[in-house]
Amino acid sequence: MYNVAIVGATGAVGEEFLRVLEEYNFPIKKLVPLASARSVGKEVEFKDKTLKVKELTCEVFEEEEIDIAFFSAGGSVSAKFAPCAAEAGAVVIDNTSYFRMDPDVPLVVPEVNPEDIKLWKKKGIIANPNCSTIQMVISLAPLHKEFGIKRVDVATYQAVSGAGKKGMEELIEQMRALFNFKLDKKVEEREVFPWQIALNVIPHIDKFMDGGWTREELKMVNETNKIMHSNIEVAPTCVRVPVLRSHSEAITIYCEKEVSVEKAREVLANFEDIKVIDNPEKNEYPMPVIATDTDYVYVGRIRKDLYEDNVLHFFNVADQLRVGAATNAVRIALKWIEIEGEAFLKDKYGK
Ligand code: A2P
Repeated sequence: MYNVAIVGATGAVGEEFLRVLEEYNFPIKKLVPLASARSVGKEVEFKDKTLKVKELTCEVFEEEEIDIAFFSAGGSVSAKFAPCAAEAGAVVIDNTSYFRMDPDVPLVVPEVNPEDIKLWKKKGIIANPNCSTIQMVISLAPLHKEFGIKRVDVATYQAVSGAGKKGMEELIEQMRALFNFKLDKKVEEREVFPWQIALNVIPHIDKFMDGGWTREELKMVNETNKIMHSNIEVAPTCVRVPVLRSHSEAITIYCEKEVSVEKAREVLANFEDIKVIDNPEKNEYPMPVIATDTDYVYVGRIRKDLYEDNVLHFFNVADQLRVGAATNAVRIALKWIEIEGEAFLKDKYGK
């Protein structure tokens, strides 16, 4: 049993952590919810208990004898406090982008590269990838094994939950204002997205970088190859859409071998945590309303290119707060316990 901290417990992902840890019956001795000084004294529910939120400090990990710390409070918070947690003897599972490309920090999707978890000791930190990357690599892994992927073109349709609770609130506020015929005023009050998000799509997530690519797009490029230990060419276009919490992706893969739709369906359906929904004759395909509140990556609209034998197209959807964040982190922690747990407890507590 482990002492577990959630850093950012009052946020959208933090709240999902509480639900996922409970559902997975995570072996918890003590749960400590942490957030900024603003939230001290706020309460969160876990199982039948009400827990008081504590302030995140460098000392709290030692004081509370934390063994596993889930971080989801932004990159600057992880930069400052994840090393404190690791120093205090905890394994950090970090949901931000801060450590993801650090060569001494494994970047893990347990269905794809569980073997990398054993590198955690270098810094005491395991990074949780970007949400769009997680659901994409889960669907790429079985196809790569079967057909050998050389290149991926992907367009994302990303939910507002990726921008945290404030992002979700901004969409809801704008929808409400729209139905009251007051959208103009609310749009001027926008804080999170660069343009109106209600009834709009915005082809811009995170900062613009060199060459006109956004940082979100470059995360998908770099993280995909770190996780898959590959050299695949990846060309993403990341787009924010007015959906609350599941991301969708239209993906095209260019392969070494000739592709087959039947084989693709088979290897996808047999892969861990994927559900294939692909019955066009019944209008059945993946959508955010199907994926939300579940732990699966849904794949469908699988079809061969009209021109090239080695090119396959498909669509995938997964819940950003769960598969793209909390569930992946909890799955990392469970795998870590399986691989390292016994030795860790023996080292730390002598038992
Ligand atoms: P707080 O509610 O006290 O601001 P979201 O991603 O939904 O916006 O949530 C962000 C989470 O990160 C919240 O729990 C928030 O706590 C927490 N957080 C943000 N800044 C800090 C900080 N400087 N120290 C500790 N927690 C922080």
